[in-house]
Amino acid sequence: MEDADKSRKNVRARAKAIKPFRCKHLIAVIENPSDIKNIGTVIRNVNALGVEKVYVVDPRGALPDDWQELRGDRAISKISVSAVKWTFVKRFDSTDACFDYLEQKGFVSIVTSPHVKGKASIYLDEGNYTVHPKLAVWFGSEAIGISDRAVERSAMCVSVPMFGMIESLNLGTSSGIVLYEVAKQRRDYQSRFRLRGQKGERETPLPTVMAAGE
Ligand SMILES: C[S@@+](CC[C@H](N)C(=O)[O-])C[C@H]1O[C@@H](n2cnc3c(N)ncnc32)[C@H](O)[C@@H]1O
Repeated sequence: MEDADKSRKNVRARAKAIKPFRCKHLIAVIENPSDIKNIGTVIRNVNALGVEKVYVVDPRGALPDDWQELRGDRAISKISVSAVKWTFVKRFDSTDACFDYLEQKGFVSIVTSPHVKGKASIYLDEGNYTVHPKLAVWFGSEAIGISDRAVERSAMCVSVPMFGMIESLNLGTSSGIVLYEVAKQRRDYQSRFRLRGQKGERETPLPTVMAAGE
């Protein structure tokens, strides 16, 4: 078999193998990011952790509207190690436009911040991230953090506990930590229940990790 055919076959096999482990209806939102490296890192984390999509609130119009165009962007492709090829990214002009779209599709949002904010504020490990069938997890900008408007329109605020002298984690790093926990819980839920509200329990839960070597 030609190398190109072999590689296409491997890609198809990998895409099939990872499909059951992807978290349904889980979206990561980055609000007004200024550093392309962080956008690439979040896309990479989203892809690696089995999160469904990335939405970017991009009032400066730094990203193209069309994902197909973004997939061809060399800088993002390089930083995300090609994850942008496989992970759907959609941009919005404003925080409200993104919330309107998410809410219309039935998504509940939670925001993240190193600070106590909003209606309810919890540490990451205190949360149950399977309660909402459709969940969007928001990350704020590098300089300002999550906006007051996003806090206002979200159900709660999640913090990664910190034990150092610095104020916050980097955007890319915090997305990796938060999405790991959220995706792990939702994968576990999907493995045990077919339906929302803990209904349709499977007799034997599906695996939540891939067999070694797959
Ligand atoms: C560099 S931080 C922003 C720092 C900003 N000065 C602030 O007050 O939030 C960028 C984003 O990473 C996430 N983040 C950083 N540290 C976090 C933490 N300890 N817990 C949860 N999210 C965190 C938040 O989404 C934050 O908006």
